[in-house]
This record gives sequence, structure tokens and C-alpha cells, in this order.
Amino acid sequence: AVTPIPREQTLDNSLALLKEGYQFIPNRCQSYGADIFETRLLGEKVICMSGEEAAELFYDKEKFTRKGAAPKRIQKTLFGENAIQGMDGKAHEHRKQLFMKLMTEERLQRLSEITTEEWRRKFPAWQKAEKVVLFQEAKEVLCRAACRWAGVPLEESEVKERADDFWDMVDAFGAVGPRHWQGRKARKRGEAWIKKVIHQVRDGELKADKNTALFAMAFHRDLNGEHLDSEMASIELINVLRPLVAITNFIAFSVLALHEHPQYRNQLQEADDDFFEMFSQEVRRYYPFGPFLGARVRRGFIWNDIKFEKGRLVLLDIYGTNHDPRLWKEPDKFYPERFGDWNGGLFDLIPQGGGEYYKNHRCPGEWATLRVMKASLDFLTKEITYQVPDQVLSYSMVRMPSVPESGMVLNEIQKFE
Ligand code: HEM
Repeated sequence: AVTPIPREQTLDNSLALLKEGYQFIPNRCQSYGADIFETRLLGEKVICMSGEEAAELFYDKEKFTRKGAAPKRIQKTLFGENAIQGMDGKAHEHRKQLFMKLMTEERLQRLSEITTEEWRRKFPAWQKAEKVVLFQEAKEVLCRAACRWAGVPLEESEVKERADDFWDMVDAFGAVGPRHWQGRKARKRGEAWIKKVIHQVRDGELKADKNTALFAMAFHRDLNGEHLDSEMASIELINVLRPLVAITNFIAFSVLALHEHPQYRNQLQEADDDFFEMFSQEVRRYYPFGPFLGARVRRGFIWNDIKFEKGRLVLLDIYGTNHDPRLWKEPDKFYPERFGDWNGGLFDLIPQGGGEYYKNHRCPGEWATLRVMKASLDFLTKEITYQVPDQVLSYSMVRMPSVPESGMVLNEIQKFE
């Protein structure tokens, strides 16, 4: 027998999604006492699900496809059109290698070093400034670091515009109206710029180091033995640069966490890598960034007595899984120590997706994200001191992506002696 799935009796819930944001799926799971329900969003039936078991199901490649899962409006802003996020099977695995091979220990170490150097370059100006908005500063620091690491030339005069564009591509994902259009403009400009750089490398006008992302994207061969066309090469290179800049948000949230829990600031000043890692994991778990992921049912199947029809759009709740009380004790408490005995589950901590890196869609940049966060936090706790002046220290649970609203203003920045 097939169990009826909790089904919402509304014509369409798109408005509720915009109103409830990160809590849209968790709210309904709670009121139905289930971790799965069906609703309608943007005019189609959608199954929403949450939790570890749901995550494991979502990453079963026999059951789900990414083809046609991401709406065009997301591809025209966040992802880029027809890139890795929407690929399946062997073609996807081959493309995934392209990203994973950039993540060697040596290259990750280099990313940490570059990140630290770029933060240090900011310090003299900060010391003289009356105040700085950390969110804006971090964007520029990470844009410089990302381009340097990837081998992409970046003029000092263009840093701000490029950094803003990378962030605006991300900032558009939950937006309708101006923020969406801003994201489209940013992507057009970004792709035009990076496409030119790809051409320059291919024509030999610009030298690219062999182990950089620029080289990898310019000379990657697809399964058919051909290079990516320059459009796709630029989109995939942006799929490295843009998310490196997006780590800004986790850094801003880290500084908010340090402000709200000052004991951790003291603790980090004395800490080794282990505690930096635990703290960074808790920031990724606790704060809202990605709300959910989407895939479509490849072939109809039944799971836990519930029918999944072929083609159905299925959303996996990221935020709710990261706050699931079955997985996390006191999930709404910011508590890095919880990672002291975490077993490294593939489907419980999913701020950047779950499952396997090589065979599935889990974010290939997760290690890089942790390195950049740790290097940044190391600088912010061990190398400088600052004050947090009066400001609105809130973030929305509805705006997607959520960001610390004030941008985290800091002042009285000094060397930490
Ligand atoms: C995929 C989040 C950083 C490159 C993803 C996914 C999420 C995510 C949720 C989707 C997983 C899925 O579809 O199952 C984040 C967040 C980041 C971050 C929150 C930090 C701000 C990075 C970095 C890189 C990167 C630093 C590259 C250096 C990618 C790529 C994909 C991806 C290429 C597509 C993978 C695929 O479809 O196989 N990320 N990511 N991300 N991420 Fe990240």
C-alpha cells in the first residue's frame, strides 16, 4: 500500500516560500510531523523532504537526475547555463574531476597562504580607518585571493567591481525583481571578462601556470576529446571564482558568532587548527546560507511507501537538516564543541550538499571553503584586535541568501600583541 503523503491544500505556495524563507520546509515538516510533504511551487507539484535519510535518498543517482532541476533564472545568475550543476552520469563525473583535481593538499595550502597574505595587505588601511565594513572588505580580499589562486589577472582598479559582481551572482538566487536583474548583469559582465581571459590563454598571449584553475578550464577535454567552448570554460572558471568570493558570507557570520559568543574569540586566540576547524564547521551548520537543493525523479519509485513520480521536482532541505534535532543536540545553540565527536557523516552536515565528491554533486569546494575560513579567522583573531560598534546585529531568516544586515562594522582595529 502506498501511504498518502501530507499534501498542502493550496493552489500554490510560492508566496509562502518567499515569506518563510529558510523555515518554509522545516515549518511544514514540523506541522505535519513528517519529514516529507507535497506542495505546489511556481505552478508545479513539488516534493519537499528533510533530514539524513532524505539526504541519502536525494543523492541516489539511480533515482534522481539534475537535468532540468535548476530553473533558468538560477542558471542565468548563480550557476551559469548548462554547466556542471545540471549534468548527470559519466559526463558529470568527468567534469567533476576537473574541479576535484584542483583540490590537492599542496594547492589548498597555497590557497590558505594567499588568503592570509591578502588579509595582511588590508591591515595598514584598516588601522587608519575610522571603521570598516567587514563584508565589503572580505569580498575584495577573497576576490583578490581567488583570482591569484586561479591564475586570473586582476587589476587593482577593478577589484571592487569584480568582487561585487561575483557576490551579486550569488545574492540573486532567492530574489525576484531588482536583485535578480543585478545578478544577471553581474553574470554577463563576469562571463565576458573571463571568456576573454580564456581566449588569451589559448592564444598564448597570457601564460597560465599548469596547476591553476585557469589552465585547467582552458585546456580541459570533455569525454568527446574536445576542449570546452570558451563560453563553457568561462562559466566553469567562474564556478571556482564566484563561490570562493561567496565565502565572505561565512566569514561575516563567523565574526558575528565571535561577537555573540566572546569566549570563542579568546579561545581561538590560543587555539590550534582543530578548534578553528570545529568553529568553522559550526558556522557552516548554524547560519543560513543555502536553503535547499533540487533534483528531478529519474524513474518513478516508491520510498517508505511514498510514491515518487517520474519527472517530479524534489527539494532537499539544507537548512532544516543542519538543524535537525535528531542529528544535532540543541540544534539552535551555537556550539562548536559539538564537532569534537562528530563522525563525519556524509548526509548530516550538508551546507554544501551531501554524499560523495567524485561521483555525485557534493560541493567540490568544501575543503577550500574550510581552508579559507580558517586562514581568515586566524588573521581576525590572532593578528588583529577590533571593536564592534553599535549596529543592527541581525540577519533575516526570510531573505535568501541571508547576510548579517549591518555587513559587520568593525572599528579600533589594531595589531594583536
Ligand atoms: C556545488 C555550496 C564553496 C564549487 C555546491 C552545492 C552547494 C554548494 C549547496 C550543491 C551541491 C549539490 O548540488 O548537491 C557552497 C557554499 C560555499 C561553496 C555555501 C561557500 C561559500 C565553493 C567553492 C567552490 C565551489 C569554494 C570551488 C572552488 C562548486 C561547484 C559545484 C558546487 C563546481 C557543483 C558541483 C556538482 O554539481 O557536481 N556548492 N559552495 N563551491 N560548488 Fe560549492
